[in-house]
Amino acid sequence: MHAPLSPTAVGSPSLSALERAAPRPPLRAATLPVGPGSSWLANQGRLPLAFMGLALAWLVASSGLLLAQPALLSLTHASPQVVALTHAWVLGFFITVACGAVYQLAPVALGTTLCSERRAWWHFGLHAVGVPGMVYSFWVWDLALLGHFGFVVTLGIILFADNTWRTVKRSGRSGAVAWSISLAAGWMLLTALVGVTLAANRFWHFIPLDPLSLLRAHAHLGLVGVFITLLQGVAFQLVPMFTLGEVRDWRLINAGLWLSQLGMIGLVVALAAGVALPTTLFALAIAAGWICSAVAMKRALATRRKRAFDPGTRWFLVGGAGISSAMVAGIALAWPGSPWGSAPGGFSAMVYALIAIAGGLLPCIAGMMCKIVPFLTWMRAYGPKVGRVPTPAASALTRPRLERWGLGLQTAAVAPLLVGAWTLNETMLQAGAWVLAAGVALFTLDMIGVLKHLWWPEIPAAAPMPAAVT
Ligand code: HEM
Repeated sequence: MHAPLSPTAVGSPSLSALERAAPRPPLRAATLPVGPGSSWLANQGRLPLAFMGLALAWLVASSGLLLAQPALLSLTHASPQVVALTHAWVLGFFITVACGAVYQLAPVALGTTLCSERRAWWHFGLHAVGVPGMVYSFWVWDLALLGHFGFVVTLGIILFADNTWRTVKRSGRSGAVAWSISLAAGWMLLTALVGVTLAANRFWHFIPLDPLSLLRAHAHLGLVGVFITLLQGVAFQLVPMFTLGEVRDWRLINAGLWLSQLGMIGLVVALAAGVALPTTLFALAIAAGWICSAVAMKRALATRRKRAFDPGTRWFLVGGAGISSAMVAGIALAWPGSPWGSAPGGFSAMVYALIAIAGGLLPCIAGMMCKIVPFLTWMRAYGPKVGRVPTPAASALTRPRLERWGLGLQTAAVAPLLVGAWTLNETMLQAGAWVLAAGVALFTLDMIGVLKHLWWPEIPAAAPMPAAVT
């Protein structure tokens, strides 16, 4: 059921916590990107919404690719078409949402404006062209083409990192949220640079290290470096906003963030060198950092005034639990003397990757989209109308039942996918791919239902004025 649009009284819009947290109009009017017929509030949402729309298209494409070729998950993860599928998911969906979220959240969290909206649009264009090119090049394993498209994507990420750092610097803020945004941008840039180097190395063979060890280092730079870092900061901005809670003590959050940063630096070096004991020790340091963040999150949640979780927040937290399970699996894989590795079947790197990506990152990122997309849409579609006509609340733009089913089916798909990858059973993989695709379809329907307000805003009937006022 579509949640009813609750009209807010003209002139006194009742905004949610997230709406109230919108960045304040900047002081320097000269930097305002306001054109004729538009407003500052409406302009705020355009760029991140473009990233969210692109990410949604990639979510559909990458789950469609898996549906067409579920047997890919019974191959070794290093085979070209699996690497293509991986980049469709991670670069196409997760990184695109992450960039859109940073373009939105960095100004909100830091109380400033984005350093350069124009360069961010250049990033969007480069990403939109580069990622499909990369996925195609991986699929047909054309390393020269991969180098070109990888360069295009990396150029976009250079613009993104530079823009993010300048925005953080201009805000003058520090603390876990500011640091996590800056550090995640740095890890993303390093991942892309290492990726281009790996592609060149596959072509010219100039690095005297095992290519599989290098692949593992690059994959962890991207997945752990970018996403764990981002979550260890921005989650403490987002979850208290969504649940009306508060963070009373930042010490544990800071400790968690820095512990996992130290662990990450060591882990990447140890993975590239292919040494088991240091890999395990640094992975344990990251897990210890993550546990600090989890305890801090539990404390923040204990202060919340909104007791029931909405679907987006619930799945964001489910994703956090999935990431914890992936850490346990990763440590077991890396443990010195572990018999498991990249060969398909049994407890393998593929099983670990599925827990991390489908069981952890997907619910986290999709849950976050359920909160961010309605908010951004609301800002563009209704922000300029506030005070002039009745406007719905941002939360009324979603369909909670569709969200619950969409996110629930995506999570339910993890079990058959894991069993299929473990036992190399194609029927199970096919079943998992179908359930995942069904979940993605419902989720996409919900998001389209939200985005349609951009073109067809629904203005609720004005609430009757109280007799005393009239
Ligand atoms: C910035 C976001 C990126 C993330 C999160 C990411 C993630 C990953 C992951 C998870 C893998 C392992 C795939 C598997 O085992 O199936 C991988 C492999 C690979 N990635 Fe990326 N990647 C990113 C960007 C790039 C870029 C920009 C390039 C440039 C061409 C690139 C090139 C490669 C190559 C060549 C491999 C395979 C390495 C080999 O087989 O030697 N990646 N990446």
